[in-house]
Amino acid sequence: MKKISFIGLGPVGLCMAVCFAAKGYQVTAFEKDASKANQIKSGEPYFYEPHLEEFLQKTQNKNLRIVTNNEEAVLQSDITFITVGTPAKRNGTINLRYLTEASKEIGKSLKKKKEAHLIVVKSTVTPGTTQNIVKPLVEKNTGRKCGKDFFLCFNPEFLREGNAIKDVLEPDYIVIGGYNQKSAGMLKELYNEFHKEHLPSIIQTNIPTAELMKYANNTFLATKISLINTMANICEKIPGADVTKVAEAIGKDHRINPHFLNAGLGWGGSCFRKDLQALITFSKERGYRPMLLEATCRANDLQIKFTIEKIKEKLKKIDGKRIAVLGLAFKPNTDDIRESQSIKLVEQLQKEGAKVTAYDPMAIPNTRKTLDKGINYALSAIECLKNSDCAILATEWEEFKKLKPEDFVQNMKTPILIDCRRLYNQEKLSKQLCYIAIGLGELAEPQL
Ligand code: UGA
Repeated sequence: MKKISFIGLGPVGLCMAVCFAAKGYQVTAFEKDASKANQIKSGEPYFYEPHLEEFLQKTQNKNLRIVTNNEEAVLQSDITFITVGTPAKRNGTINLRYLTEASKEIGKSLKKKKEAHLIVVKSTVTPGTTQNIVKPLVEKNTGRKCGKDFFLCFNPEFLREGNAIKDVLEPDYIVIGGYNQKSAGMLKELYNEFHKEHLPSIIQTNIPTAELMKYANNTFLATKISLINTMANICEKIPGADVTKVAEAIGKDHRINPHFLNAGLGWGGSCFRKDLQALITFSKERGYRPMLLEATCRANDLQIKFTIEKIKEKLKKIDGKRIAVLGLAFKPNTDDIRESQSIKLVEQLQKEGAKVTAYDPMAIPNTRKTLDKGINYALSAIECLKNSDCAILATEWEEFKKLKPEDFVQNMKTPILIDCRRLYNQEKLSKQLCYIAIGLGELAEPQL
C-alpha cells in the first residue's frame, strides 16, 4: 500500500486523512498551526463534523500521524495531497499564499528524496494555477523535472460539510487531471485500491479542465439553488402555491434530479460565494463577463432583503423589536458559520435596531467570536422564542422540527413565524399563529 501525506488539515485534509488511515494506509498529516495540530493529536477535531471524532480516535497514533513538520510528512510518503485553503481576497480572486508556501516546502523536502513522488493538488484553484504556480515552485525547489522526476495531478474534492466522511468514502465520481499519463495512472491506481469493487467513475483529463470542473460543479449547484429560490419568491405571489411541490415535481425529471432544490434563505458556506466570485473575476480578466453567475450571487443576496421585507410587513418597524432567530450555522449538522445567510440576516436586523436572540445547537461558540455585540444567545429553542415579537426559522436543524404551534403561541409576545424552510404545516400553524414561509403563497380557499 502506498504511503500518503496531507498538507493542511482543514475539513478536506483531515477528513481525507482519517478515511485513508481507516482503510489501512500509513498516513502522515501536516498542519502548520500548532494549536490545531495539538488538538487533533489529542483526538479532538477543532471543528464539528459527524463521525470525524470517532474516525480520528480509531486511527490517531496507529496509522495516522499528525506532524508540524512538512519534511516529515513528505519524506514518509509516496503521494502528497495538498489540501490547504484558498480563501477569497477582497477583489474576488483567490489567495494563493498557503498553496505557494506548501509548494515551496514540498519542493525543499522532495530534494532529499530519491524515489518517485506524486503530488496531488486538492485545493480549489483557478485554471492554470497547478501548472503555472505549483509545478514551477516544486521544480525550482527540488531542481527536478515534473513528469519525469516527480509527478503531478489536480484532483478536485466534492465533499460536503456535514457529510464529509461519507462523501470521501463514496464519492459520485472522481476527476483526475494529470500532468502526463504516468501522473494520472499513479493516482488512478491509488483510487482503484482505495475503493476496490466500489470504484466510482473516473473522469481523466488535463489539469486546467479538471481545475475548471470544480468551479463548474459548485457554480452549478449554487445556480440551481438560486433558481429554486426564484421559484419560491414567485410562489409567494400566488395564493395556494407551494415551492416544495414544484421542486418535488421537477426533481422527478432525471435531467434535473431532486437534490439541491430546497428553497430557503439562500446558500452559504465557505465555498460557493468564494468559488463563484473567483470564477467571475477569472473570466472577466480574460474578457468574458459571466452574467448568469453574477445573477446567481445577486439572487442569493436578495433572499435576505426579501425576508427582512416580510418581517417589516408584519411588524411595521423593526427598530426596538425582539426577534428570535433559530439556527445560525450555514446549514444543519455543522458548527460552521462562514458566509451563513442566517448570520447576515442577524447583522441586517441589528443594523435596523432589532434586539436579536439566537439559538443554534452547535454554532453559538463560533458565532460569539464574530457577533458578540448586542446579541443574546439562548440555551434552547424555547428560551429563544420567549417574549419575542417575531421568530425566524433560518437553519433547518432536526430538533426544530419538533416545535409545536403551542411552543410559539405560549412563549412569544406576538406569535409571528417566518419559516425559511417550510418545516411546519402551513394549514395547521396558520390556525394558531401568523405563519409566513419562503416559497408558500397565502392559504387558498379550500376547493370543493
Ligand atoms: C459545497 C458542495 O456541495 C461540495 O460538493 C463542495 O465540495 C464544497 O462546497 C466545497 O467546495 O468545499 P458545502 O459548502 O459543504 O459543499 O455545503 P452544501 O451542502 O453544498 O450547502 C451549501 C449551501 O447551500 C448551504 O447553505 C445549504 O443550506 C444551501 N442549500 C443546499 C440550499 O439552500 N438548498 C439546497 O437544496 C441545498
